[in-house]
Amino acid sequence: MVLDELKNELEKELKGINSEKELKALEKKYLGKKSKIAQILSCLKDMDIKQRIKMGKEINEFKKKTEALIKKKSLDIGGFDRKDGGGIDVTVPGKNFLKGHLHPITLVTREAEEIFSKLGFEIAQGPEIEDEKHNFDHLNIPQDHPARDMWDTFWLKKKGLLLRTHTSPVQIRYMEKNNPPLRIIAPGRCFRYEATDASHEINFYHLEGLMVDKNVSASNFKAIIRKFFEEFFKKQIKLRIRPSYFPFTEPSFEVDIQCMICKGKGCSACSQRGWIEMAGAGMVHPNVFKAVKLNPNDWQGFAFGMGLDRLTMMKYKIDDIRMFFKNDLRFLEQFS
Ligand code: FA5
Repeated sequence: MVLDELKNELEKELKGINSEKELKALEKKYLGKKSKIAQILSCLKDMDIKQRIKMGKEINEFKKKTEALIKKKSLDIGGFDRKDGGGIDVTVPGKNFLKGHLHPITLVTREAEEIFSKLGFEIAQGPEIEDEKHNFDHLNIPQDHPARDMWDTFWLKKKGLLLRTHTSPVQIRYMEKNNPPLRIIAPGRCFRYEATDASHEINFYHLEGLMVDKNVSASNFKAIIRKFFEEFFKKQIKLRIRPSYFPFTEPSFEVDIQCMICKGKGCSACSQRGWIEMAGAGMVHPNVFKAVKLNPNDWQGFAFGMGLDRLTMMKYKIDDIRMFFKNDLRFLEQFS
């Protein structure tokens, strides 16, 4: 049989083939327009009907088998055939996939969470869209209180809703649902309608802290905050606590650390002061306890709100807070 001979011939020739180019030539020889098969096909019309059907079937089978054999051979040689570009070049350098990484503020937030967790603080969360009651009223800042100007924000169309100006509302939300003794931190995003500069953004991060018990004093706060900074910076730091005013604490303090960018000499990050304000703090005001239905004669506590962006600036010696949201990859990739 002509086709059997052809098949044997093909199998023999296939064994000697090592490249895609040779394979293409072989395919042309056996299945192309000038192939023996094409010649046989052109003779079909002269055959009687019975022969034509039989031959047609055999030709189709031969073509299918030949195609399968060629495909298999192509796969077998593909990986090593570099001359005609038909295969895989194992020497081509691999494609680099861009890998994401955490933002420096996230890195610092996680580190701060870990340190406070070791100090016995639980992590609490609150909404970024707040109501007036939690952001102001229950924090002893009634409507028309001048302190509202200190925390001007973005108001939503729905009356009474706003983007929170600090994480202090989480204190209220937590105490509404949990009884003391309690020790929590609440990291999160805050918003303020104010002019930006090297240490002020309109969108920044706070880490709130609250400790309430029978016998908590300002000296407990001092010890905790010092311990935190020393753990965080892994060295002794220069810290000062000075009197301040917040409607929701009494007495109130401001916590500064010596600027780590200029080492106290004065630079743009610390407004030439040599010190940078890291947190507001104080002893929880009796009216705040009353707002969450706790008796201020039974409980006392300290609270603080620390600027996580500024903490990150100090850690990595970044002299402008606005770098955090510029999306400049040259800056961000340094933290991968
Ligand atoms: C507050 O927001 C109070 N809620 C803090 C507090 C909590 C006091 C609990 C008492 C008890 P203040 O507005 O000072 O306070 O903000 C706290 C810290 O956030 C500042 O010390 C500073 O580190 C940071 N901060 C404030 N405003 C900005 C801003 N615009 N951009 C970046 N960081 C800011």
